[in-house]
Amino acid sequence: MKLYLAPIQGFTNSTFRSYVVQANGNVTKVFSPFVDAKRYRKEGEKVLKDIAKSIGSNQPLIPQVLGSNSEDICAVLTHFKELGFEEANINMGCPFPPVATKQMGSGLIPFPEKIDEILNAALQVGIKISVKIRLGWTSSEELEVTIPILNKYDLTEVIIHPRIGKQQYKGDVDMDAFERYGKMLMAPVGYSGDINSVEQLVNLKEKFPFVDSWMIGRGAISNPIIFKTIEGAEPSRKEVALAVKQLHNLLFDEFSATLSGPSHLMNKMKPYWDYFEVVFLPDLRQLVKKTVKAGTVANYQAAANDLFAKASREFE
Ligand SMILES: Cc1cc2nc3c(=O)[nH]c(=O)nc-3n(C[C@H](O)[C@H](O)[C@H](O)COP(=O)(O)O)c2cc1C
Repeated sequence: MKLYLAPIQGFTNSTFRSYVVQANGNVTKVFSPFVDAKRYRKEGEKVLKDIAKSIGSNQPLIPQVLGSNSEDICAVLTHFKELGFEEANINMGCPFPPVATKQMGSGLIPFPEKIDEILNAALQVGIKISVKIRLGWTSSEELEVTIPILNKYDLTEVIIHPRIGKQQYKGDVDMDAFERYGKMLMAPVGYSGDINSVEQLVNLKEKFPFVDSWMIGRGAISNPIIFKTIEGAEPSRKEVALAVKQLHNLLFDEFSATLSGPSHLMNKMKPYWDYFEVVFLPDLRQLVKKTVKAGTVANYQAAANDLFAKASREFE
């Protein structure tokens, strides 16, 4: 089974990706969070730092680019190629209004002629191209027009997150639309959205036998060894908590060394707890709260260490 780690901007950096690949052993591809092509134009290779860090690592990395025109996107793709990548992904899914309203990410979907131009130019760079896309920006009807455009090109795969951009990351995934569009696509189809357990994946596999690859994002932050579980291993709650601790500590050490000042460090670490907390709830809720509400780095570390120690003592 092809299992992919999803790109999650602000979370799945090189350290995160390496940990997940090493701890699971069966991740087929990992995708970088998007490189903003407009920022690349202004700031150059500085914006490729996270991707460059992964070169020569254990990661089967597919770098991703986000942009609104072929010139900017191709400049980034060319740089990916120069770094030795054979394949790259184009983001047509980002739902953030400041991005989408500028005809980038999911905001590109209502403009099939733009997508046509971008893919035409991208494939001339000489690097394999895949696309990650939503059902639309404001309506799931939009993809109906876009798919014939995608089908004109020899894409490595098209990964669909079956929501529209306006939904952001909430609300129901539209399985009927996913099935309709998945079957229309000529390229191999990937599925991305709300896979948090083996049971969910098994159900989805039964429902959509045409799907070629399965991508997991937030579920892999909550459970960094989720891929192993999917291939039949049965890690205990204690082992999942240990994986969260190991990943947490690697990230904490990295951000302590690279970010300037305690508030930057706290602002970077705390959002992870929206997902890390899952394995500790409901019984260790108080210690999770204490960690997230800590006002100083010392208090944060003490609370997190207490939490990890308690989980190691009490979880089976
Ligand atoms: C905070 C956040 C940042 C994300 N950043 C990216 C990104 O950089 N590129 C991308 O293609 N998708 C991005 N996504 C979407 C995920 O890759 C994925 O498609 C989506 O979260 C649904 O899958 P999940 O439920 O397994 O997380 C992001 C999602 C979240 C929640």
